[in-house]
Formats: sequence, C-alpha cells, structure tokens
Amino acid sequence: MPAPDYSTGPYTARAPSVAQVSRLNDLCFAEYPGVIEGGEPFMRWYMARPGLDPRLCQAAWHGDGLVAGLFVTRLALHLGATPRPVGVIDTVMTHPEHRRRGLAGSLLSATIRAARELGLWALQLYTAPGSAGHRLYGSLGFRDRATLRYWTRAKTDPGDPARWRPCSLADEARVQDVVASHRSHDGVPEMDTAYWAWRRHDRPLELPAATWIRDLPGGPAETVALLPATMTALGRRTVCSDLMVRQEDSVESLCAALPASTSLVALADERDHLLITSLRKADFERGSAEVAMLMSLSSPGGAGADLPWFALTESVIGV
Ligand SMILES: CC(C)(COP(=O)(O)OP(=O)(O)OC[C@H]1O[C@@H](n2cnc3c(N)ncnc32)[C@H](O)[C@@H]1OP(=O)(O)O)[C@@H](O)C(=O)NCCC(=O)NCCS
Repeated sequence: MPAPDYSTGPYTARAPSVAQVSRLNDLCFAEYPGVIEGGEPFMRWYMARPGLDPRLCQAAWHGDGLVAGLFVTRLALHLGATPRPVGVIDTVMTHPEHRRRGLAGSLLSATIRAARELGLWALQLYTAPGSAGHRLYGSLGFRDRATLRYWTRAKTDPGDPARWRPCSLADEARVQDVVASHRSHDGVPEMDTAYWAWRRHDRPLELPAATWIRDLPGGPAETVALLPATMTALGRRTVCSDLMVRQEDSVESLCAALPASTSLVALADERDHLLITSLRKADFERGSAEVAMLMSLSSPGGAGADLPWFALTESVIGV
C-alpha cells in the first residue's frame, strides 16, 4: 500500500490532463532507451488511442500533482490463433522523487483487479529485461512470453527496390487484410476502422505514417508502415511498424526503395527467423532487448507460446 499522503485511482475517478501526463512521461522516460521523445502533441494523440479504457488506466496523486500513472488499452489480440480480449498496459511511470514507495505496484494491482472484473482474458506489456519494471511485473504474476530485439540500420543503399511502393488509399483495404491475416504470430491486434484510422491517419503532423506495400505473385502482399520519430538513445529514426515479410530479400528491397538518408529501426522476436534473416541480409544490426510479458486472467494454462510474438510498436516505442 502506498503511504497515506498519496491518493490513487482510475481515470474514471480523476483523470489527469494531457499536459500533466506529458510532463511526467518526459521526466520518467528520458533515460529509457528506444522510446519516442514526443512532447505534448504526441501525448494528446496517444491518449486518444481507441480502446484506452479510463476504468483501467490509473493515476497516483500527491496533492494536485500527478506522480505516477499507467495506460491500459483494450484490444483483441490473436493468441493461439484466437482473438482474446487483452488489456495492453504501457507508460508505467513514477516520478523519480516518489519511487520505491509502492506506487507503481499499487496502480498495477488495481488494474489487475479491474481487468478481472471486466472479464479480460489477459494483460500484456513490454519492458527491458532486468529493469526495475521487469522485476515488479514478475512479482505481480506477469510472465515472459517473448524476447524482442531492436534492429537498426544507419543508412540505406541504392539497390533494387523490387516492387516496394507507397500505398495509395485504394490499396488500404488490401493492406488491412494483410495485417489482419497475419496468423503466423501471436499478439496481432484486430483493428477496427477507428483503431486503423488512429494508427495511420489521425496522427499529429510531427508523427506522420506512410504505408508501403509489396505485391508478390501467388499470395498476400508484404507491408510496412514507416513512422519517422525522435527516439531516446537512437535519435532521429524511421520506425518500421507492422513489418510483414514473406521473403528473405524483403527488407533489403525496402531499403533500396527509400532515400539513402533513412535510418531505420525495427523490432523482431528472437524466434522470428524469416524476419531476422531478412533484416540481417539488409545489414541491420541487432540491438538491445525488450521482453513481451503476459499475465493470463483466464483458466489455468493461459496462452500457448509456440508462435513468435508480433511487436506492437505503439506500445513498445510509442508510435
Ligand atoms: C519502474 C517504475 C515505474 C517503478 O515505480 P515505483 O513506483 O518506484 O515502483 P514500486 O515502488 O511500486 O516498486 C515495487 C517493486 O518494484 C521493484 N523495483 C522498483 N524499482 C526498483 C529499482 N529501482 N530497483 C530494483 N527493484 C525495483 C521492487 O521489487 C519494488 O518493491 P520494493 O520497493 O518493496 O523492493 C519506476 O522506476 C519508473 O518510472 N521508471 C522509469 C520508467 C520505466 O522504466 N517504466 C517501466 C517501463 S516498462
């Protein structure tokens, strides 16, 4: 239990402003490598994320000051080929002057209780292995589900851009099908119209998204969303989100289709052999790790762990 001079509760009881969350976020995540440096326009967009549930999002207050918080977004994630109602937790943060007083633990415990009451199947989050957060989540019952890696490439080379092209609005329905039918991974969200629009169109000017597509004969297309952003520790990057490849030369060809100055960053599950081969072929370098953790709230057994994990970049990086 946190000390009595703190009050805690869900956003339904007391919701912080965008400015308050943005300030705390900037303070807490400046030292956390590989996340977006967003500021207020980013946070206004992020807090409008469809599925962000005020009954599950939590805040801790010291007087009028926001000192800790977390977000939870309800998404239908494919686990073991079945869509399950999952609460995706992110932006768990406590003001540096208020740490080690049980605030994050207390907010997470409240979220777990509320998620059970709402009948969610599981809770999911990402964190750096060995971090304070990793220990905290483990002590609350979250289990490691997959290890992801950041992969980076400083520059692209001229080469053969074989068939990659920016997607027109007319292609969008097809790209949505490619993403929706990506059943070789666990953790792919079902995206309704609102969630798709938030991810690709209703974005701040500072954080544009460009959808690319590559048609391949005899099967579904490949796709990626390219998201330029400034990231902690990595600087100015273009994040590859929803990177769905079917061939080993995919990423190499994608790089060749982009301006030479494009510095790419991608995330891949350590067991995602095709994607890793494709990144290596394109001279990407393997960087730091991030663990996808899962807490099953359903009957014993929970989610199987056979499939590689799909990295939801908005929850790991923020875009
Ligand atoms: C991670 C973070 C949210 C923890 O917040 P907190 O309010 O200090 O956490 P709590 O006081 O509830 O800690 C609960 C437990 O977590 C573990 N823990 C928290 N901080 C720790 C630290 N610096 N080192 C080791 N263990 C730590 C301990 O087990 C602790 O219990 P204890 O104090 O009884 O030993 C906070 O350190 C933070 O904001 N960090 C920067 C942002 C970040 O990394 N967020 C997580 C991203 S996934």
